[in-house]
Amino acid sequence: MNKLVSSWSKNKPLPESYKFPPETRPGNLIVPTCKTIPVIDLRNAEGRNRTDIVQQILKPSQEYGFFQVVNHGISENLMNESMDVFKELFEMPDEDKVHQWRDNLRHPCHPLQDCIKHWPQKPIRYREVVAAFSIEAKKLGLRILELFSEGLGLESGYFGDKLSESLHLFVNHYPPCPDPSLTLGITKHCDSILLAILHQGDVNGLQIFNSEEWIGVEPLHNAFVVNIGNQLQIISNDKLKSGEHRVVTNSRAARTTVAFFIAPSEDSVIESAISLVGEASVYRAFE
Ligand code: OGA
Ligand code: NI
Repeated sequence: MNKLVSSWSKNKPLPESYKFPPETRPGNLIVPTCKTIPVIDLRNAEGRNRTDIVQQILKPSQEYGFFQVVNHGISENLMNESMDVFKELFEMPDEDKVHQWRDNLRHPCHPLQDCIKHWPQKPIRYREVVAAFSIEAKKLGLRILELFSEGLGLESGYFGDKLSESLHLFVNHYPPCPDPSLTLGITKHCDSILLAILHQGDVNGLQIFNSEEWIGVEPLHNAFVVNIGNQLQIISNDKLKSGEHRVVTNSRAARTTVAFFIAPSEDSVIESAISLVGEASVYRAFE
């Protein structure tokens, strides 16, 4: 694992190799935390509120490519345990080198029985806790994809099986930074997958680029940020939008986040759903 950032000792200036070109620096601009990125309550998403919820998730997915969910079915206890092992992970000794103000770990989560053998052995509870989290995160992801298939008018189960078979966990750790105005935790990007489910703990940092300005996504207690990836934008033939985003750092507190990425299996063809294409597809099919 790349660990240079976490091992950078306090009270030293930002190393030159972490300073971004001036035009991409966040600077000292105060980015407002956006209250307009909707928080959607998934309680009864399988019951009487379903039609409502389907409509509620479509709008922000067209406008921002982002929304947050609460009452999502992943227990607070499991999330606390998971975030604890993730934080512990980055307190362990290190090697290597990175250039964004971030340390990260990435690993596959499917098929669980095979890949768990390659996960970290320490912290000792890592495999047990993170396996439980990945099972729940997969369930939540599939529920949300099912809401999308309904909202887009696709058949039930459209995103099941192969289209959501590749599951990866990214753990990001952003230590307190000597000069947040000059560097970034992650540069502006879109996620190249189908759907991402992100738990950002309780520290600000995620920003979305929308209508030519940056807006912060408020860390809400026990909520997940859901974001549309490029592949879902393609499959929806641009009915849903993959939102550009970045991560800024701060000088006060370390920030640990976990992103659960859902994507089609390697051998899937990614193309717009036939029923959404109409006259012309915006995209060509690719593997
Ligand atoms: C990512 C990402 C956001 C965050 O891992 O792709 O955008 O807040 N993470 O860590
Ligand atoms: Ni991202």
